[in-house]
Amino acid sequence: MEARGLVKQYGRITAVDHVDVTVNAGDVYGFLGPNGAGKTTTLRMMLGLIYPTGGSVRVFGRDPITEGAAALEGVAGFVEAPRFYPYLSARKNLEMMASYDGNGARDRVEAVLDTVEMTARADDKVGGYSHGMRQRLGIAGALLRDPKLLILDEPATGLDPGGMRDMRALIRRLADDGMTVLLSSHLLAEVEELCDRVAIVRAGRIVYEGAISDLKATAETAYRVRTNDNTRALEICAAQAGVSAVRADGLEIRMEANEPAMAELSVALVHANLKIHALVPETATLEDLFFHLTEGSTPGEISAPVIDQLAAGGAA
Ligand SMILES: Nc1ncnc2c1ncn2[C@@H]1O[C@H](COP(=O)(O)OP(=O)(O)O)[C@@H](O)[C@H]1O
Ligand SMILES: [Mg+2]
Repeated sequence: MEARGLVKQYGRITAVDHVDVTVNAGDVYGFLGPNGAGKTTTLRMMLGLIYPTGGSVRVFGRDPITEGAAALEGVAGFVEAPRFYPYLSARKNLEMMASYDGNGARDRVEAVLDTVEMTARADDKVGGYSHGMRQRLGIAGALLRDPKLLILDEPATGLDPGGMRDMRALIRRLADDGMTVLLSSHLLAEVEELCDRVAIVRAGRIVYEGAISDLKATAETAYRVRTNDNTRALEICAAQAGVSAVRADGLEIRMEANEPAMAELSVALVHANLKIHALVPETATLEDLFFHLTEGSTPGEISAPVIDQLAAGGAA
């Protein structure tokens, strides 16, 4: 799936502002951002549910905006909450959906109930279901279409911890079975656990796009270091490229650096025959970075140049 320069304007509000996203086959792709960032609006355009003000979408090379439902073969999912007839059972709801879908969907009803672990409750009315069960049934409904790309809008939001764990396990299983997944979330931990690539969106704009591991590597973190000779270590730290804010603090030396700079520093210390007793990163860097990227605040350990660099990389 490729989105290029996607824009959605609601009057004076620009809900989505020139979004570029590429989801490759096999990705578990996270679309991460706080409430109101434009995630649902973007996914709606990708599913051909609303017209973009500008830009284009290609799904398996086809255009859901001009070609409509026919372009969405191989794609399934839901935005916000899946909808069902509350007075019918899960099985009955799925059978009805399957009869609209055709393409052998009817024969998949039992299998998808099993996949989302709902077989035991399949004859109960959906009206009595918990939020977590409805979300799982929503995924079952999407799986009826036997999709290659599954689009899920905040599937775990509002679930209790057990429901979240089950939802993550389900998405993990689908991904392990080879399904490409695009999922939106406002929860960093969820995206970190499930996804290999992310787009971080803030006020309709992508502020970072790429691998989570790269994002982590770029983040500046505060470190504490303790060696057998801190006086010499202090000089080496201060002289090391990419290491800043170096100062002695009791038995430790404190500094800020990103991961590659820290790796170089550890080598320099050892070359100087110093023994490293401890080298401790101070903060949950990704969380900090996420707040910086999405709220634009300044406290914390991340320097403005790093954010500019990431934003530039994300826009490229
Ligand atoms: N139909 C609409 N009419 C007017 N504004 C909308 C509409 N849909 C979304 N918005 C606005 O667009 C912005 C992004 O919304 P949304 O895509 O729902 O964000 P998210 O899913 O990331 O929480 C918000 O400011 C929201 O109020
Ligand atoms: Mg939303």
